Amino acid sequence: MKEVASYNLKEGMILARDATTRSGQVVIEKGKTLSKQSILRLSFYNIQSAFIRDEEDEKPDVSSAPAAYSQKIKQSQKFQSFQIDHTIVLSQIKDSFEGYVNNGAPLDTELLVSRVEELFDSCKTSLELFNMLHNMHSSDDSVYGHCLNVALICRQIGKWSKVDDDTLKTLTLAGLLHDIGKLKIPNELLNKPGKYTDEEYALVKMHTQYSYDLLAPLDLNEHVKAAALYHHERCDGSGYPNGLSKDEIDVYARAVTIADVYDAMTTARSYRAPLCPFEVIEKFEREGLQRYDTKFILTFLNHIANTYQNHRILLSDGRSANIVMLNNQHLSKPIVQLDDGSCIDLSTAGGLHIQAVL
Ligand SMILES: [Fe+2]
Repeated sequence: MKEVASYNLKEGMILARDATTRSGQVVIEKGKTLSKQSILRLSFYNIQSAFIRDEEDEKPDVSSAPAAYSQKIKQSQKFQSFQIDHTIVLSQIKDSFEGYVNNGAPLDTELLVSRVEELFDSCKTSLELFNMLHNMHSSDDSVYGHCLNVALICRQIGKWSKVDDDTLKTLTLAGLLHDIGKLKIPNELLNKPGKYTDEEYALVKMHTQYSYDLLAPLDLNEHVKAAALYHHERCDGSGYPNGLSKDEIDVYARAVTIADVYDAMTTARSYRAPLCPFEVIEKFEREGLQRYDTKFILTFLNHIANTYQNHRILLSDGRSANIVMLNNQHLSKPIVQLDDGSCIDLSTAGGLHIQAVL
């Protein structure tokens, strides 16, 4: 937008703001294209200058696009009802975890899993589920919210991996309980903004052992306990607590790991909109897929990318396009079609990437 003196105004210019008299009376509304008559009108009202759109105004606001998509989801009826159900399940989880950890009350895992299943089933498609999850704000009680989200994502991974019903239940429970040990860590430390000191990080890392210790006395599938202890292990040996390699890590823990990392990257924070799924896929690809179970990570990322097949997206240069073909070698860089019909293969388009789903 630029201010132009009235004697320099030309036909065809577009007003970026209302043109008003000194008393505030609107003479021509913003958005109108100036004609000979309207320019004469401005001089008749003794208006000395007007704000005109320039090239900067024509560019889409790339930074606000993810927020716009997020806004669209949040205003949907589905999101409103999901949010209510999510909150109810969350408070049940909170009461159950706190009752067990603080007072030794029985932990009704079957009831909790059935509540997670109901919430999962309330979403008709995986797109709907991820749209909901990406837009749930984490609160200070983020341990419970994170456990619930990881349980839902684990269930989706299980479905995509075509496991049987019993495995699906166990996997859902493994996701739900994986971080229960964080209740033993002070909240101020978990929510500390900025970097941990070495001592603080060592304490935070203890949550896997605390989770295992809390679950060990319970009559639960052993995989659920192992997932709690090993969900921060990585297949390339770079994880903790023991730096195990792939074959030493429980298979359920390997699935929980992916759900855990994905939720951390895509949950909306108070300081940022959720990351676009293609940015998340790119992050996974950049950090190295060898850190994760090959079968699970490929199944997961393939399905996530497929979820957004044919979707409208915003490119990092401000143009919008449709995804027309996925690239199995670079899932974050599909072939997209611009509005003029031309196609771009993002895997060979330099730094051009998908900035947002629209
Ligand atoms: Fe964890």
